[in-house]
Amino acid sequence: MDLVKEIKRLKEEKNAVILAHYYQVAEIQDIADYVGDSLQLSQKAAETDADIIVFAGVHFMAETAKILNPSKMVVLPDLKAGCSLADSCPPEAFEKFTKAHPDHVVITYVNCSAEIKALSDIVCTSSNAIKIVESVPKDTPIIFAPDKNLGHYVAKQTGRDLLLWDGSCIVHEAFSIDKLIELHKKYPDYKIIAHPESEEHILNTATYIGSTSGMINFVKTHPEEKFIVATEAGILHKMQLEMPNTELIPAPAVEDNTCACSECHFMKMNTLQKLYDCLKNESPQIEVPEHIRVRALLPIERMLELSK
Ligand code: 13P
Ligand code: SF4
Repeated sequence: MDLVKEIKRLKEEKNAVILAHYYQVAEIQDIADYVGDSLQLSQKAAETDADIIVFAGVHFMAETAKILNPSKMVVLPDLKAGCSLADSCPPEAFEKFTKAHPDHVVITYVNCSAEIKALSDIVCTSSNAIKIVESVPKDTPIIFAPDKNLGHYVAKQTGRDLLLWDGSCIVHEAFSIDKLIELHKKYPDYKIIAHPESEEHILNTATYIGSTSGMINFVKTHPEEKFIVATEAGILHKMQLEMPNTELIPAPAVEDNTCACSECHFMKMNTLQKLYDCLKNESPQIEVPEHIRVRALLPIERMLELSK
C-alpha cells in the first residue's frame, strides 16, 4: 500500500488536518499540512475548521489542541508518545508546591499535562517565555515550571527571580559539553545555536538561543554561516529543506544515548504507518475531562492573547 497516497485520500475524505512538530520523522513532516513549533501548532489547532486534527507530536501537544478546540476529534498516532519534561511534574506534588506559595503567579511551560495547566495562571512556550514573564508586574513573585533549564535562561534574560520547579527534558540534557567543545575545535567556523531547554553550559557556548522556529529562522537569515545545532535532531530536516546549501551538524550527545545526536524517542514513536492507522480508525483519540479542560483553557488563552 502507498501510505502517503492513502493518508492524503483519507485526509480529504474525512476533512482532517495533519499538524506536525519539527521533531517528527521526515516522512511525517513532509505529509503534514502544517509543521511548526509548540506555539504555532497551538495557534493552528485553535483556528482550524477541519473535523479531525491528527496531531503528529507528543501527548501534551495533542491535549493542548483538544483543550483549545474541544468540538474537534483529536487523534495522536501513538498514545505512548509522552514527554520526560511533562512527566517530571506530577499534579499532586505541583498543587502542593503552588499552595505553599499562594502569592506567586504560576507560569507553566506548555510541556506539561492538562492537570498542571489547570493549576496555572499563564502558559508559555519557548518562543514567548520571556514575553510572558515580563507581562507579570515586577513586584509579583513567579513560579516557573516544569523546565528548570528554560526557567534559568528566562530568569537570566529578564532579571527576574523565578521560583523554579526541578524538571527537565532528557533529550536536551543529553548534550555532552566535552564533545561539543571537541567538535567546535574541529569546526571552529561553525556557529552553535541552541534550544533553551538545554543546560546552561551548553547555552553559554551558543551564538543564538531560541525555540525551534526561532532556530530555523536564524539559520534562514544567516545564509553565509554554518551551524552546530543543539536541539532534537529532527529539526535538521526542515532547516536543510529551507537552506539546502547550509552546512549543519547536530550537537553530540553523551555516550550512552541511542544515537550520536539527540533524538526524542517519544517524538519518534509516531510513524507514517501509525499516522495512517489513527486516521483510518479515528483512534487513539485524546480526551480531556471537561472540568480540567475549562480550567486549563484560561492560561492557554492568556498566552495566545499575549502572543498576538
Ligand atoms: P518548541 O518547538 O516550542 O521550541 O518546543 C520544543 C520541544 O521540546 C517540544 O517538545
Ligand atoms: Fe519532551 Fe524533550 Fe521530547 Fe520535547 S524533546 S517532547 S521536551 S522529552
